[in-house]
Amino acid sequence: MSSAKRSTVTLHVVSSLDGFIASKDNSISWMDSPGDIYEKGVTDDGAEVLQSIDCYVLGSRTYEHALQLGWPYGDTPTLVLTNRKLPSSRNTVEFYSGDLKKLVGEILAPRFKNIWMVGGAMLAQSFLRLGLVDEIRLMIAPALLGDGLHLFGNSGTEQRWNLKNVVAYKNGYVELSYSRPSTSP
Ligand SMILES: NC(=O)c1ccc[n+]([C@@H]2O[C@H](COP(=O)([O-])OP(=O)(O)OC[C@H]3O[C@@H](n4cnc5c(N)ncnc54)[C@H](OP(=O)(O)O)[C@@H]3O)[C@@H](O)[C@H]2O)c1
Repeated sequence: MSSAKRSTVTLHVVSSLDGFIASKDNSISWMDSPGDIYEKGVTDDGAEVLQSIDCYVLGSRTYEHALQLGWPYGDTPTLVLTNRKLPSSRNTVEFYSGDLKKLVGEILAPRFKNIWMVGGAMLAQSFLRLGLVDEIRLMIAPALLGDGLHLFGNSGTEQRWNLKNVVAYKNGYVELSYSRPSTSP
């Protein structure tokens, strides 16, 4: 088996109930946990999952927002997509421009097993259109935004995904995990 086959690309984002990943003013207060506890939920096991991630991939707008908010990717290698010459912020960050299939198959897969593509919407839609996503982990926040940046947009193509897991958290978040059927592109 090639190294490309052994690695997995997971799309992970936090979405509002109505399908937005960013509010119109780019504030993130809608992601704050509500005061109410959902009694049947489990406590967040995020730390264990985070430790298993070998590499993050993100679009430049997500990168710039992450720098403003406080770097959430720790010392994990992070690849940022941009056509611009952006200043390097940390030695774990690399920049890439161009063909996404080549990026995943030739640059990331030989080096990393568990690749997390964490947005934004533009990059997520490109990865999905090209069939580069193996798993989707969609964290649904208990909020309607009414307006903002749509995660999926109009891709123009129908795709079926297999539900793998559903986890409800005490803070009211629900994580839906899906894998791509082996017959998909
Ligand atoms: N809720 C969540 O979980 C979540 C997750 C991620 C992001 N977000 C939010 O989403 C927003 C950003 O999303 P977005 O859709 O606007 O932008 P984005 O996907 O983060 O970044 C788009 C940029 O990526 C670069 N890019 C994409 N494909 C490329 C390629 N093949 N080669 C070179 N560069 C490429 C381009 O950068 P250049 O213009 O530099 O060339 C493009 O403008 C932010 O508000 C962020 O906070 C939310």
